[in-house]
Order: sequence, then C-alpha cells, then structure tokens
Amino acid sequence: MIRLGVNIDHIATIRQARRGIEPDPVHAAVLAELGGADGITVHLREDRRHIQDRDVFILRETVKVGLNLEMACNDEIVNIALRVKPDMCTLVPEKREELTTEGGLNVRDHFDTVARTVDILMNNGIDVSIFIDPDEFQIDKAYETGAKFIEIHTGKYADSYGKDEELSELKKIDIASRHAKEIGFVVNAGHGLNYKNVSKIASMTCFHEFNIGHSIVSRAVLVGMEEAVREMKSIMLNASIGDNKRW
Ligand code: PXP
Repeated sequence: MIRLGVNIDHIATIRQARRGIEPDPVHAAVLAELGGADGITVHLREDRRHIQDRDVFILRETVKVGLNLEMACNDEIVNIALRVKPDMCTLVPEKREELTTEGGLNVRDHFDTVARTVDILMNNGIDVSIFIDPDEFQIDKAYETGAKFIEIHTGKYADSYGKDEELSELKKIDIASRHAKEIGFVVNAGHGLNYKNVSKIASMTCFHEFNIGHSIVSRAVLVGMEEAVREMKSIMLNASIGDNKRW
C-alpha cells in the first residue's frame, strides 16, 4: 500500500515569518500522524530558513512513524544527522538562492561526495535515499553509491500538469521508476505533488512512498492538518488500487 510522508517544512516557514514560536512543527507532526501520515519529513537547510536544529531533535523524540531528514551532502548537517539518527536521510541538492529544491542530485558529477555521505550515514544505521531526476543514468550512478532508496523528482511533471509536456513527463517517471525498482531500489517520489496531480503518479505501480509538503500545508491552513492529510491519503490510496492506470 502506497505510503504518505508529510513534509512539514512550511509550518516552520510560517513560524519563521515572525521568528517566533508558533506554529510549532512538532504539533503539526502529531496532527499529521493522527491524519494517517506514514512518515514525517523535514529539510534542515544550511540557511535554516524554516526548520531549525531544535525541531529536528524534538521530532526525533516525538514522531512515532518514520522520521525522514532531507539534507545536502554538507559536513555540518551530516554531523547533526549522526546525532539525531533519523530513520532515513534523503540527500538533496541545495542552493541558497532557490525557493525550493529545484532538481535531483547530480550523482554523476558529485559521485565521491555523495558516496561518502551515503557510507557515513549507512554505517551509523541510517537508511539513505537519494533525490534524483527521472533519468536512468543518474539512477544507476545512485545505485553505485550503495543507497537502498531513491526519491524520484516529480517537480517537472507537476509543472507540466495540464500542458502538452505532461504525458512525456509521466512517461519519464514511469520508465525511471520501473528501472529503479528492477535494479533493486525501493522507489519513492515527491516534489510538487498536490490533490489534483497525485492520482496519475499513484496509479503507477512501482512506488513505495510519496513525500508531499506544500500542498498539504496549504490545505491544512484552511481545513486543519489532520483533515488535509486524511484527504491526500485517501486520494492516493484510491488511485493506487487495482490495475487502473490513470494516464
Ligand atoms: N521531496 C523532496 C526531496 C523535497 O526537497 C521536497 C521539498 O522540500 C519535497 C519532496 C516536497 O515537495 P512539495 O513541498 O512541493 O510537496
């Protein structure tokens, strides 16, 4: 059954707008779990624009489902990960000037750094996932690092939704996810998924988990976190049942 990892970064974005104490991502995580989240994801960025170190340490104590820490291959953050010991670390590229993660990690060009980071984390008992574009060559390189999980970047598909390029973006994700599963990865997906575009991806059979943040937090502002998570999970589960390809 397809799983939902809820990314709560943007709860912290609202808090950081006033550099205050509310809303607290720790509270959001509890409500997301009550709504059916199978995992909680946070991205501790080098610039600390949303999630703070304190959040990650408290979430480690309070989250009952899996805790997934998104992070760049950066020594400072790796050291924090080793102290927090999340269930999983997802390695992502990070640029200071970007609004959000813009693409998958280029494992071909940064192989040694990525492989070293995978090695350190896995040797400390932390599962590692690599965020990657739907590109078979990059997927193969990611497999060579020893990581057992991959998260396919669905951002381009999300941007193409309802446009001419949508079908070709879906095909890329379908082919890439099948390939990743065939070579032995557990395959996740995420970025830009929302209540409308998620069904087409959820009807593909290879996926283990989706990581969804912005659209769930946006809806949660209006309907509450528990309800927003429940609605997303129900759409995903309906789309993934049976052999009903939706695209
Ligand atoms: N997966 C990864 C690797 C991400 O970097 C992000 C954004 O932090 C997400 C999933 C969630 O993306 P969105 O907020 O667009 O749902």
